[in-house]
Amino acid sequence: MSVDISTKITVKKASTSKISEVDFDNLPFGQVTTDHMFVCDYKDGKWQQPQVVPYQNISLDPSAKIFHYGQSIFEGMKAYKDNEDQIWLFRPLDNQKRINISAKRLSMPEFPEDYFMEGLKTLLKVESNWIPKTPGSSMYIRPFVLATGNGFHASPADEYKFVIACSPSGAYFGGEVKVLIEQNYSRSANGGVGFAKAGGNYAGQFYPTQLAKAKGYQQVIWTDDNTHEYIEEAGAMNVFVRIGDTLLTCPTSDRILDGITRKSIIAIAEEEGIPVEIRKISVKELVEASNNGTLKEMFGAGTAAVVSPIAGFGFQDKDYDLPTIENSYAVRFKKRITDIQYNRAEDPFGWRYQVK
Ligand code: PLP
Ligand code: COI
Repeated sequence: MSVDISTKITVKKASTSKISEVDFDNLPFGQVTTDHMFVCDYKDGKWQQPQVVPYQNISLDPSAKIFHYGQSIFEGMKAYKDNEDQIWLFRPLDNQKRINISAKRLSMPEFPEDYFMEGLKTLLKVESNWIPKTPGSSMYIRPFVLATGNGFHASPADEYKFVIACSPSGAYFGGEVKVLIEQNYSRSANGGVGFAKAGGNYAGQFYPTQLAKAKGYQQVIWTDDNTHEYIEEAGAMNVFVRIGDTLLTCPTSDRILDGITRKSIIAIAEEEGIPVEIRKISVKELVEASNNGTLKEMFGAGTAAVVSPIAGFGFQDKDYDLPTIENSYAVRFKKRITDIQYNRAEDPFGWRYQVK
């Protein structure tokens, strides 16, 4: 007989709360953390007691493998509160599945679905007052796993910690997003870990992104590592292009994260009868479409950034501005998605998941 894991999770409440110090009308992204976190340790070949505990530091031996070999994976999710104070998640089982796809690639133990879902729900119920209701804000949720096992031998750790931390957050991007099409550096490679949410994938992006920022761009558009001729991702977002009235995005591969926002946008576009093409998109095609006026929109899509319009792109020392248009797909998709997320509209796809 299966055990109901929700009754097994222990909850130790914090003696004081930081919530009164938080300005919920001016939330940054991912800077404020809540009073509690969910933790579960892996040792002796199995996941141990799942717990909700006061938010606290993690103390590790300096030889812990996370510090040396970067065995670390994470997810990004959000919780939303509606006008009746009901709490909602968006396609959470997709994140649960994806963290285990990442775990497998990084030689880490998979985390059971019931531990993930019940841990998440228990934590969100404890932190319910922290879920913002200010427009455009939500509770950013960061499940992550790190290798806590010790030793300098370059091999997978024998101990791990699964954690869920929460951060009431506002918008990811403050203003306009201009992107630089990357011609030298690569985010990922064939046979690599680009499809996984591995910590190191992000560390490797920081330097090229800093170089792009110094030139006045906010993000890098990653191109394929082999030829740098085809666009693949926009920083920590999947990328979409609108040429004429057709919506284009590249197929996922072992270099590209299979984004949940991306597949939701494709489903909405198909439902709305928008022509969608999932195929390679060359930089040459973008430049030509920009020059002949058919490039109408570009936008990034991801949990943190939702749908983020791109104002223009830089390529080979030249800037290509995107026009301001009426009936923007980006605006339309953002509204459809956020209306479902915040329980403001019907959810014909069954994506919304109530925490109760
Ligand atoms: N691509 C990368 C590299 C990301 O880090 C993210 C963020 O999670 C995405 C795409 C978008 O994925 P999702 O829509 O599942 O958040
Ligand atoms: C997300 O969109 O949730 C992400 O994980 C992006 C993150 C690197 C901020």
